Amino acid sequence: MIIAPSVLTANLAALGSACDEAVEAGLDWLHLDVMDGNFVPNLTFGPPVIKQLRKHLGDGPIFDAHLMVENAETMYQDYIDAGCNHLTVHVEAVKHLHRLLHAIRDAGATAGVVLNPGTPVEAALEVLPDVDLVLIMSVNPGFGGQSFIPTVESKIRTLRKAIDDQVAAGGRNVQLQIDGGVKAHNIAMLREWGVTNAVVGSGLFNANASVADNLTTLHQALND
Ligand code: DX5
Ligand code: ZN
Repeated sequence: MIIAPSVLTANLAALGSACDEAVEAGLDWLHLDVMDGNFVPNLTFGPPVIKQLRKHLGDGPIFDAHLMVENAETMYQDYIDAGCNHLTVHVEAVKHLHRLLHAIRDAGATAGVVLNPGTPVEAALEVLPDVDLVLIMSVNPGFGGQSFIPTVESKIRTLRKAIDDQVAAGGRNVQLQIDGGVKAHNIAMLREWGVTNAVVGSGLFNANASVADNLTTLHQALND
């Protein structure tokens, strides 16, 4: 299972060092939570900060941008130019979802679609052939450190089956990512549900232990 660290609860006054800590612990994905204060009630960072992070970290890490923004259709190219390898966009925020997913792939990045907890799974099934990743939110987006919403299980299981069916029919494999409240106590259960990629924020960046030690605890929970 890929563990994608989210730095929201890290010391953001030292964002580069927080990312270094994740990379040095062996993590090669970085989940970048972009918030615009419109789609979600919080603000984080955008292309200029991401560009500096790319410069700081070099080409190694995969930048997985989770765009909690209303203007992804006009801004996606800026995120790719800033160094993002992957862009995930919210069905609830985008008018022409199919068109945008294709535009992102045509621009050379991989594309993902994300559903809020209250959004039916069908919204992702409609575009399954057009994406590289589906992200299921297990919290309402906007803040790190919230509690996991367990009713996402049926969405995950439905998507696991739909992705397996798509692959069996010769179609594209799709990563199944979860975001929100993922910790050592539930990560093995999520893998059993069929998740392949877990975003972990406060489970990695907290005052109790270093990122490396928290990662060891997660790996122990997964028995690997
Ligand atoms: C929430 C973000 C998440 C969040 C994860 O809006 O998309 O990536 O920071 O943090 P934890 O793991 O603390 O729920
Ligand atoms: Zn996120």
